[in-house]
Amino acid sequence: MEERLLMVPGPTNLSKSVRDVLSQPQLGHTDPDFVKNFSETLVLARRVFRNNNGYQFVFTGTGTVGMEAAVASIVDPGDKVLVVNTGYFGQRMTEVNRCYGAQVEELATGFGLHADPEAVRKALSAGGFKALYVTHVDTGTTVCNPIADIVKEAKSAGALAVVDGVCSVGGIELDFDRLGADLVFTGSQKALAAPPGAVLIAASQGLLAQLEARKDRVRTYYANLLRWKAVMDDPRTYFATPAVQLMQALNQALKEVEAEGLEKRWTRHKTNAKIIRDGVESAGNKLVVEQGYRSDTVTGIWTDPGSAPTIQESLRRQYGIDVARGLGENNSKMIRVGHFGNLTDKQAKYFAESYSHAAKASRYAGRPVVQNRS
Ligand SMILES: Cc1ncc(COP(=O)(O)O)c(C=O)c1O
Repeated sequence: MEERLLMVPGPTNLSKSVRDVLSQPQLGHTDPDFVKNFSETLVLARRVFRNNNGYQFVFTGTGTVGMEAAVASIVDPGDKVLVVNTGYFGQRMTEVNRCYGAQVEELATGFGLHADPEAVRKALSAGGFKALYVTHVDTGTTVCNPIADIVKEAKSAGALAVVDGVCSVGGIELDFDRLGADLVFTGSQKALAAPPGAVLIAASQGLLAQLEARKDRVRTYYANLLRWKAVMDDPRTYFATPAVQLMQALNQALKEVEAEGLEKRWTRHKTNAKIIRDGVESAGNKLVVEQGYRSDTVTGIWTDPGSAPTIQESLRRQYGIDVARGLGENNSKMIRVGHFGNLTDKQAKYFAESYSHAAKASRYAGRPVVQNRS
């Protein structure tokens, strides 16, 4: 198959070595080689979260399963929670919380705007919140929230702090121990550059203790962290059959993160994000998010009205680059570009040049051809 440059906001391009792992012969999930590989994955996952003090989980499921585990492990019906809703995935956290009977208060921002820690403090001052839920990077709007300050507010209000790190972990600085959050979840398919389908969760010891205390009341079977804890403690234990090849591919991807070095990886993401943003702005388009709150993993672009489909199609057909469009009502006026995982600066530059050509060409598309009169 022809190589394409996948720059949708997840999944992302896989390295050749990760792809090779996917085609190895099938192993059983209790095979000593798989058990060894998985035990190593847990250690690597811990390092990518910088989670020395908490508990580490990795299991089969998408980011949404992580979100569900983060709600079901905490919420009893009637519990009051604050959801900081800065977009599509904040909205999903509200919905998941409602599914489990939480009494949700929402602190919502306008489209593309970040959450203000001061507003979070005010909202929490009403008291009685069991937990706060916040998205680090909302992939729908591409805003990057100041999570360190928001988590601090939650903790000083006595609430548990839960962070959706699906679009950040591995690409943007996040140090679980220093952050002091109770739970951070991510998926395998974005900045970690593994295939979709694995969920990775860092949880505080305090949260685990609370979970133990309410174990009879956890209202999910598969997403119950306590059931998974037994497997994490001893990966030979069966709970549900893991996606063996996917877990092996994740192991390889995490080794590649480690080989690069986490800090170097964060810096590379920052550099590439700047190349992409500069390219877009010099092509005459505006970025959705204001400076200071733009994500280094994904960028939202306001195109000329109605031209997002043309630009997307031209990037795909002429340049071999796949990008996504805005969600819902922004579908024809917004482009979303994922620039996480293994993206090189050369590829970022190639995107910037290609985008510039595609955006400029879209301005001429449909204009009448001016006849040469001479
Ligand atoms: C910020 C964020 N949270 C949650 C999810 C849900 O993850 P998944 O699609 O893997 O279920 C996504 C997916 O793109 C996301 O970007």
